[in-house]
Amino acid sequence: MDQQLIALINKLQDVFASIGVSNNIDLPQITVIGSQSSGKSSVLENIVGRDFLPRGTGIVTRRPLVLQLINRPAANKPVKEEKDGEPEERTNANNENEWGEFLHLPNQKFHDFSKIRDEIVRDTEKMTGKNAGISPNPINLRIFSPNVLTLTLVDLPGLTKVPVGDQPRDIERQIREMLLKFISKPNAIILAVTAANTDLANSDGLKMARDVDPEGTRTIGVLTKVDLMDQGTDVVDILAGRIIPLRLGYVPVVNRGQRDIEQSKSIGSALENERNFFQNHASYASKAQYCGTPYLARKLNVILMHHIRSTLPDIKARIGSQLAKYSGELKALGGAMGETNPGSVVLSTITEFCSEFRTMIDGNTNDLSLNE
Ligand code: GDP
Ligand code: NA
Ligand code: MG
Repeated sequence: MDQQLIALINKLQDVFASIGVSNNIDLPQITVIGSQSSGKSSVLENIVGRDFLPRGTGIVTRRPLVLQLINRPAANKPVKEEKDGEPEERTNANNENEWGEFLHLPNQKFHDFSKIRDEIVRDTEKMTGKNAGISPNPINLRIFSPNVLTLTLVDLPGLTKVPVGDQPRDIERQIREMLLKFISKPNAIILAVTAANTDLANSDGLKMARDVDPEGTRTIGVLTKVDLMDQGTDVVDILAGRIIPLRLGYVPVVNRGQRDIEQSKSIGSALENERNFFQNHASYASKAQYCGTPYLARKLNVILMHHIRSTLPDIKARIGSQLAKYSGELKALGGAMGETNPGSVVLSTITEFCSEFRTMIDGNTNDLSLNE
């Protein structure tokens, strides 16, 4: 996620904390929907930039995963004395400041992200058995890191039609209801995922998104598996809005394939592979900047900024009333309301924030139109 945006939001949240407003900006939840194995978990994982979600052919995601990313500044490590000149044993500096915690395992920090994946699999099986069962009961995972925007993402099971294994006869209805609960919220941004090697007109994700968001103001189309399309075919007509137009448009991506998963290919090399694919493909080379995961992430940032901008008046009003209350209390205590009063510091910080925010959002929306 955009570092500038992260810094700005943190500043705003500091302002809130300093004046005792607890319920700060309610950022949208990003949800993924689409058919089973269309690549939903792969897309989410690439956006977060860490390997931790179970992925694969077949029904892998069988419970909702509510993933809260929480921005937490890197800890300043206290300088320890070196004993006998021996350098202190160094742990991976990156992992030290980044970890995951499950709601069902309080006080247990997972610094190893592959262990997070193991725990998701373990707890999924505990709740649903091993035989393709599903459950609407979510797994709640929080990831603390200096490199994320405080934000919630939801990974969801895919839409299926025919029951397999231990699945009930009405599996289709059960999954639909589960997904509807998440994507109906006006606050949800819907990533409607469709594999590019399937027919867009049959996209379950798009159909469902249209039911809850008919105006298309919070649905982004994501086309996965562009690398698996037949020779001579491409998604250019879809991107141009000539097949099923979407207000916020479509982003084509290339995730890791099953072989890459088996060979534990890293996210870094997957993203490099994706970039090379679009830059060197005859159909996409001229528009490569509008393709791939980094562009999808930027698009999400712009949507988040629009959301925050639309809530700014409310934020300002809340801060204003909090300040009025605060200065009233100060007066009642007989305190002087001079230049040094904390209220004026907060006011100038928030004013500074708003103007900084406007400059930033204007810059960002100029080069990345929401309505392409
Ligand atoms: P989900 O069931 O929708 O969450 O899909 P997953 O993310 O688990 O992916 C399902 C399978 O499709 C896995 O084997 C992935 O490796 C593969 N896959 C997903 N996206 C792509 C892609 O863009 N290209 C290729 N070649 N394979 C992909
Ligand atoms: Na899958
Ligand atoms: Mg999945």
